[in-house]
Amino acid sequence: MLAALKDLKLGVKLNLILVGILISAIAACGLFLSKILENKIEQEVADKAFLMIETMNSVRDYTSSQVKPELASRLATEAYFIPETVPAYSAREVFEGLRKQPEYENFLYKEATLNPTNMRDKADGFETEITQQFRQNRQLKEKTGFRSNGDGQFYYIARPLEIKKASCLDCHDTVEKAPANLISTYGKEHGFGWKMNEIVASQIVSIPASKVYEAANQLKLSVLGIVASIFVAAIILINLFLNQSIIQPIKKIAAKSNNISTGDLELKFTHSSKDEIGVLAKALNRMVQSLKMAFEMIEDDED
Ligand code: HEC
Repeated sequence: MLAALKDLKLGVKLNLILVGILISAIAACGLFLSKILENKIEQEVADKAFLMIETMNSVRDYTSSQVKPELASRLATEAYFIPETVPAYSAREVFEGLRKQPEYENFLYKEATLNPTNMRDKADGFETEITQQFRQNRQLKEKTGFRSNGDGQFYYIARPLEIKKASCLDCHDTVEKAPANLISTYGKEHGFGWKMNEIVASQIVSIPASKVYEAANQLKLSVLGIVASIFVAAIILINLFLNQSIIQPIKKIAAKSNNISTGDLELKFTHSSKDEIGVLAKALNRMVQSLKMAFEMIEDDED
């Protein structure tokens, strides 16, 4: 293998090395860029998701501290339940308002609940699994990650939602205990039987990441394209230089040497530059000179 490489022409050898460098450079660049971009994407979507989940918690607080007291007397007397007094409802509604803007239509906020009062909060398979993990590991206070579904890739933040106040059980414990207007609005089948300190749901924000990924991939391709073009241009220039300054002069010198070896001692090597080839041409000229003198001396002797 190495012996075969040794027999290759200079230009081929050099190009093999250059193409090797080109491929390694592109691979290294690609890996490095992928790593950086991946971190950056995660940072970007995570920042957004955190901001959103915190905003939703603020909406929840606002609802329980300001809206609910204001509507408490009506809630006690009306035939239908007033969902606007429920933090879970107001947070979801605020988010649904945001989703009306096309830019945010694929964002999602959900208090994904195993046994919900309002069935739109029912946890799907994925959300149930996360909630089960929170239930099994009480130390786990947050889960983040990527998830794909039919609509593309999403980044999510999930936090456990625990029943910490006994007052929650006024409505979520048993059908008998729950207000009549809650039953008449939501029915008796679901949203009951919650326990104190039980994790009943996961609060989940999910943010589409496909577009961010596409933009990052585009950027990666452009950078790799630029790096590859610079390399290809360099390879072409190096080849031109190699041909002009080394291969052609060596070929000329070789052809002349052939002629000289067959007796034409009047030939001269011409190479104008002072580089190594120029030095070689000069040395060869001196050698031809010496040859000529040697031949003349031999001829003189013979005379
Ligand atoms: C006055 C009755 C009442 C009280 C008290 C109450 N909730 Fe609810 N809760 C509801 C109703 C009604 C819904 C459904 C609202 C809707 O239509 O989205 C709900 C929804 C929820 C949801 C969303 C999942 C689902 O069941 O639809 C969570 C989570 C939740 N409540 C947690 C709590 C917690 C925690 C407390 C105590 C801090 C609490 N609730 C106190 C009535 C109540």
